[in-house]
Amino acid sequence: MAILIYKGDRDITRWLEALKAVDDTLDIRVYPEVGNAEEITFALTWPYPHGLWNDFPHLKAISSIGAGVSHILEDKTLDRDMPILKLTDSRLNQSMWEYLLATISYQAMQLHRYAQQQSEKVWAELPPRGFDSVTVGIYGLGSIGKFVAERLAAEGFVVKGFANSSKEIAGVEVYTPSEVTDTVMQSLDIVVSILPLTAQTEGFFDQAFFARLKKGATFINVGRGAQLIEVDLIEALESGQLSHAWLDVLVQEPLREDHPFWAHPQVSITPHIASITDPLSVAAQIVENYHAAMQGNALHNVVDREMGY
Ligand code: GLV
Repeated sequence: MAILIYKGDRDITRWLEALKAVDDTLDIRVYPEVGNAEEITFALTWPYPHGLWNDFPHLKAISSIGAGVSHILEDKTLDRDMPILKLTDSRLNQSMWEYLLATISYQAMQLHRYAQQQSEKVWAELPPRGFDSVTVGIYGLGSIGKFVAERLAAEGFVVKGFANSSKEIAGVEVYTPSEVTDTVMQSLDIVVSILPLTAQTEGFFDQAFFARLKKGATFINVGRGAQLIEVDLIEALESGQLSHAWLDVLVQEPLREDHPFWAHPQVSITPHIASITDPLSVAAQIVENYHAAMQGNALHNVVDREMGY
């Protein structure tokens, strides 16, 4: 029985330490140092070459190293019955909250407009805007989205949440797809995607979506890159329909060197850091799932393949 970690070229040291601190009897291997493939019974993975996990005949479950699992679900070679696990963690919620508090406050304070004015040596006051006059639309109300929506509302923002099913969130008006009117769309100053990547959300943020928003709105993507049609975003920014975009996730990561987003004055890029998994914070739930899988017990945070999260 052994855990195999696939982390690409990321440094694995803190992961090994954190998992061993929970259970020092674990046999943990780091790809490509697999040893005997028959001994691998649990996988822990970030994006990997599709088909990789089919080489281990005794594999019982595959756990993501993050909240998102699209990098696993995209692997169409995987056995349909293989349990796929995601992480839920208060540190993930908190770090996403910190990122969004920073970026949303920046936009709410219109600091992007002042940066533009500075580049033109313009000294001009814009009409002041308090948090309570800024409406933020949160797309995706899973554990992270719900946490962030609630905190934003507590800071005084007007918060509207969008999800497939209705939910009760303190201070947040929640809309299911059939309840979204043009008036609701027109009320949004800042749109945030914290959606999982599914067939329904792929390409969701496109020309038609941006056209429904208030002129000058901001788009922030911390979900997955493929939810955005990139050329449509550039067009919306250049026509003035959108004023600015913050992109922490991109269709292709790392963003290629000649991509127009790098130098676009209305685009701010961060390298997928909005919500980074802290090994110390999630090691216990991973080890718990590992032992459950070894003993044939119920697993936690199993992904619904049909739903895609
Ligand atoms: C980050 O993108 C995650 O999936 O946790």
